Amino acid sequence: MKLWLDTANIEEIREIDRWGVLAGVTTNPSLAAKEGVEFEALIKEIAAEVDGPVSAEVVSGRRESMVEEGLKLSQIAPNVVVKVPVVPEGFAAVRDLAGRGVNTNMTLCFSPAQAILAAQAGATYVSPFLGRVDDISNDGIGLLSEIVEIYRVQGYRTLVLAASLRHPQHVVDSAKAGADVATMPCAVFRALVKHPLTDNGLRRFMEDWESYQASLGHPAARGGDRA
Ligand code: E4P
Repeated sequence: MKLWLDTANIEEIREIDRWGVLAGVTTNPSLAAKEGVEFEALIKEIAAEVDGPVSAEVVSGRRESMVEEGLKLSQIAPNVVVKVPVVPEGFAAVRDLAGRGVNTNMTLCFSPAQAILAAQAGATYVSPFLGRVDDISNDGIGLLSEIVEIYRVQGYRTLVLAASLRHPQHVVDSAKAGADVATMPCAVFRALVKHPLTDNGLRRFMEDWESYQASLGHPAARGGDRA
């Protein structure tokens, strides 16, 4: 399962990219709006920063205009993936975009039936929104598992992108369920690494190392650049 960031903020992307595990980025109109800069310039900057797919969403409502918008977005950079909602005009637009070799991500998926339609349309990715399903007291991971199972049984090639992840357990459960990608906000990415036993263990190792070096009469301890 690849790990992607769900953000349009370049500083967050740079921060996580330094970890060496970032495989892609998803954006959406709400995330783009927070950045307050021209959308195409924003996507261009993100696409240049990320070594992997970058989802950019269309905002048109009709098949023809979605396709036109999608083609424009896809020309920003070769790693741009056009995000299209799971609505009737969206499936048709994805069919057209796929026919022209454009990678697509069908978004706002809240049911296995919508995921079946996305696969039939030829989407590259389908994005079930787990957190938003949980928000209304339904089972987000259950939805993801159903989609993964259907895709396996049917041999669909569309990749399952677990989205709207709210905490590290969502990421772990998505991996167990067989998601191909998990996209998450920066706060969730940062939380993935946190464990008090790691922090305490590291502190103890460094203290012991420093005492050891001091006992040998070595003035400067190695590992002093650790945060
Ligand atoms: C994914 O592509 C979406 O941008 C995102 O995961 C939505 O998450 P939210 O429910 O936290 O807004």
